[in-house]
Amino acid sequence: MQGRGRGFRDQRMTFTLPRRGVLAGVAAAALLKPFGAGADSDAQTTPSLARIAARGGRYYGAAARFDQIEAERGLGPALARECAQLTPEIHMKWDAIEWHAGQHSFEQADGLVRFAREHGLKVRGHTLLWDQSTPAWAKSKILAGDWSPIRRHFETMLGRYGDVEEWDVVNEPIDTVGGKGGLRRNCFHRGLGAGYVARALREARSLAPTARLLVNDYGFDYDNPVEEARRRRFVKLLADLKAEGAPLDGVGVQAHLDLSKGPLKPEILEPFFAKIADLGLYAVISELDVKEHDLAAPLAERDRRVADQVQQYLDIALAQPNVRGVVTWGLSDRHSWLSEAGADPINRGLPYDAGLARKPMYWAMRDSFLRAHDG
Ligand code: XIL
Repeated sequence: MQGRGRGFRDQRMTFTLPRRGVLAGVAAAALLKPFGAGADSDAQTTPSLARIAARGGRYYGAAARFDQIEAERGLGPALARECAQLTPEIHMKWDAIEWHAGQHSFEQADGLVRFAREHGLKVRGHTLLWDQSTPAWAKSKILAGDWSPIRRHFETMLGRYGDVEEWDVVNEPIDTVGGKGGLRRNCFHRGLGAGYVARALREARSLAPTARLLVNDYGFDYDNPVEEARRRRFVKLLADLKAEGAPLDGVGVQAHLDLSKGPLKPEILEPFFAKIADLGLYAVISELDVKEHDLAAPLAERDRRVADQVQQYLDIALAQPNVRGVVTWGLSDRHSWLSEAGADPINRGLPYDAGLARKPMYWAMRDSFLRAHDG
């Protein structure tokens, strides 16, 4: 109890939901479900983020790694309790699947899919094409103009994981600083030309006729010239793809928030989501977390800053009808990609702390979902 919500529900909140009042309500009572584990006692009586998100027809999920679920007793139950969906943080990336040409390692991806299935969770496919996770052998072929490794990789992944309903087909195609015409000069662009995005979508559609196909990218959140250019170029890419009839269903907005980048502004974010909606596309907040900028501040202050940022972001995003889901990039600070192994202190930009207790960011997310869904 102590610490939960402390400080972050302050003057910056436009209105505050009485938590106990909500929990006492008949509708909320119907949502209560027993929890398998949890470091804090509230876990026994609080509806999960997935339940609260589902009230607005949305999903909540987290990125996860099967090796970490196996290694840490509390993590699996916490994910199963809190999420409706899991994103494999690394296991479905090309270099995790096929480091050597033709030699596939499915164990970790299969393990995560099995864990998800056992707990009734969906899996987001992440990600078919990403420069940073393309194995060296494939990169050299692609750079030589050969599409066939991509075709085979898509056949492998979309065949084996055929029940995945949502795929990030292309990850991080935008680069307005070092790119060409605003597109990242990755191996796909350099070897195959700017048309690789549309071709990847078509190829994915031919192999996964009913899956929802997305393009996923970062750096759209703040009011600065670089991110303004990125938003503009991303929307143009989406418009071009739609205009040429590419089978694009939605977008992933990564939302790796960063406390050093200034305030979040509705007047920046709302039109961005609206333009995506105008193109007939939905959005997923696909990799939400918060990078701190002052790890030396008192803990309560750090947690308040993170929670405030998330609350501001989600209050804007969840007011957009085309935002269908929110995924945090991990559940617990312990596993966040934002902290190097052995870092001390670690970044506290996820909903659970390193001991698997919920912290202010969790309650901020919950409040944002409740505000958006219950008005
Ligand atoms: C990151 C993982 O979190 C790391 O563990 C891995 O080493 C590199 O990739 N954008 C993405 C994700 O789309 O796939 C990245 O995940 C984080 C940035």
